[in-house]
Amino acid sequence: MAGDIRGLSPETLAVTLGYASTSAFGAVKPPAVMTTTFVYQSAQHSKDVHEAFFNGTGPAVGASDAYIYTRLGHPNLTMVETRLAALDGAPASAVFCSGMAAITTTLLAFLRPGDSVVCSRPCYGGTDGYLTTVLPDFGITTFGMGDGCDDASIRSAIAEAMAAGPLRLIHLESPANPTAAIVDIAAVARISAELSSAQGFRPIILVDNTFLGPLLQSPLAEGADLCMTSLTKYCGGHSDLMAGGVSGSVELVTRLKALRTLSGNHLDPFSAWLLLRSFETLPLRTDRACSSARQVAEFLRGHPKVAGVTYLGFIEGAARTVFDRQCRGTGSTFSFHLRGDEAEAFRLLDALKLLRLAVSLGGSETLICNPATTTHYQTPRERREAGGIFPGTMRVSVGLEAPADLIADLAQALDKV
Ligand SMILES: Cc1ncc(COP(=O)(O)O)c(C=O)c1O
Repeated sequence: MAGDIRGLSPETLAVTLGYASTSAFGAVKPPAVMTTTFVYQSAQHSKDVHEAFFNGTGPAVGASDAYIYTRLGHPNLTMVETRLAALDGAPASAVFCSGMAAITTTLLAFLRPGDSVVCSRPCYGGTDGYLTTVLPDFGITTFGMGDGCDDASIRSAIAEAMAAGPLRLIHLESPANPTAAIVDIAAVARISAELSSAQGFRPIILVDNTFLGPLLQSPLAEGADLCMTSLTKYCGGHSDLMAGGVSGSVELVTRLKALRTLSGNHLDPFSAWLLLRSFETLPLRTDRACSSARQVAEFLRGHPKVAGVTYLGFIEGAARTVFDRQCRGTGSTFSFHLRGDEAEAFRLLDALKLLRLAVSLGGSETLICNPATTTHYQTPRERREAGGIFPGTMRVSVGLEAPADLIADLAQALDKV
């Protein structure tokens, strides 16, 4: 499909956008263009294509005869970026070989020695590790933000970071994984714009949208500059590919693509092809996983061996108000807390027959893990517990199986705890 996409709904864009059958023998589905390099029609054409790529003039980059070498860009990457940008409501997107490649390239593209960063807490361990163990060696300091729904705590984190050095970037993860902590993105945009007039430029606001994905939350519409998604999770949706995307203005995304070319961390043609196919069913998978997750969460909330369920559908107070304004759905990953510790958690995990014991989320199969001994193994206990992760906490990512079967499996395993 090509042309004007205004007015089309995400379900339609997810199926059609980014590929025109006329470009590949009339094939209704795109080919995977498995090549490393592209042949030019003439010497002049090769010069024109390089001029277009490096100077932004001449033939349009991404046109079918304007590719150079697959690390710089390839047809399946263009297709997937076109579709992701539309779903994120952005002018442009850059797609990488993993979510972490997307995050680290974004941080390196915009941060310079002496800069400071504000990061919401808790945030994904990989991001946290990069900010707190890699970037300090380059003179970049990160400051944590407390309650992301409270103006005073947002204000104090921004002021503290600005006092230490120019505040160049604010990284927000909302909802956070696995605690479902919410950050008010619009409030961060408003307060950072106000406070940063003192330093002469506004920090870039980057939001990790992995937990809900493009159909359930649109950070750019809330005032973020860049929206990052680990496409490995819900967008890929089958636990069989790794990818990450960043959407935003053409100016910011062009800088990411330039660094991606030099870093070599673009998405390969086959994974891009798989991802384009996965986007087609994202709306259906999202609806189904959200409704099944609600049923599983309600079952767990009523179970005597469960002390509590941290599920977006059950949040209250200020976070609820922000959630209702900012999000369009509750997602399908949440945590629950057993009455007990590691021994009870292990008995539950070892008794499950259908739910699979694995990290990650957003796949068609339901996955469960004990964060304290897996995803958050390296986080010190005090920090884990401050973030709501206890020895008996379990994280579950509800997939596409019949919810009654999932509930029956959890019920029989809870009997053995
Ligand atoms: C919230 C969040 N952001 C980023 C990532 C990193 O994505 P990837 O594993 O695709 O590198 C993950 C992975 O679990 C995640 O949960």
